[in-house]
Amino acid sequence: MDLINAINRRRSARKFLPRSPEKDQILPIMEAARFAHSIANRQVLRYMVCLNKAKSLRISDFVNLNTTHQNLHENEENTSAPAYIICAGPEGESPNLYADVGTAFQNMSLAAMTEKLSMCFVTEFDSAQITKEFELPPGFKILAIFAIGTAAESSVAYNAESLPEHIENASDSRIIQIPKLRASQITTWIE
Ligand SMILES: Cc1cc2nc3c(=O)[nH]c(=O)nc-3n(C[C@H](O)[C@H](O)[C@H](O)COP(=O)(O)O)c2cc1C
Repeated sequence: MDLINAINRRRSARKFLPRSPEKDQILPIMEAARFAHSIANRQVLRYMVCLNKAKSLRISDFVNLNTTHQNLHENEENTSAPAYIICAGPEGESPNLYADVGTAFQNMSLAAMTEKLSMCFVTEFDSAQITKEFELPPGFKILAIFAIGTAAESSVAYNAESLPEHIENASDSRIIQIPKLRASQITTWIE
């Protein structure tokens, strides 16, 4: 896939088909993580990959994608993520470490597209609960959680002159429109 095309087409997914990704599909994504930028090339992030359906359902209880199964109405199908990647880093680090998380996620989410998988960066999660159930490396804490699977929604970006005052819950419909400001609106040129 052409790189610029992939960058433009990458979208966060919050509704997923039930099938779990295969380990072989995750391996290139972890390869992409290892080649990401990191502060002083310290490479301190560690990833716990959960492909287990039941355990992923458990993680879904503690993350806020607005579509997790506890919000389901009767007869509504479960669209929660079939897999997660828990991203952990050493405790007591500078907040700059979150830049490493961002660069890693970007590599990973682009690599995921080559496997026809979609991801969502999640910062709203119950760290205490997840840490209680899934053992982290000693001295590490959860920095972010990445939902991953086959998207069950279609999400497209459009050129927006300005952002809507209230960005709708992105998981309300199965065709999601994501406003993106134009490059000219986010750029100034230093002459
Ligand atoms: C640092 C960061 C934290 C995010 N946290 C959440 C989150 O907790 N829950 C969620 O549903 N989406 C989360 N997102 C996804 C954003 O909402 C999404 O990137 C944004 O709406 C733009 O859509 P796009 O990724 O499809 O371009 C997060 C994204 C970033 C970069």
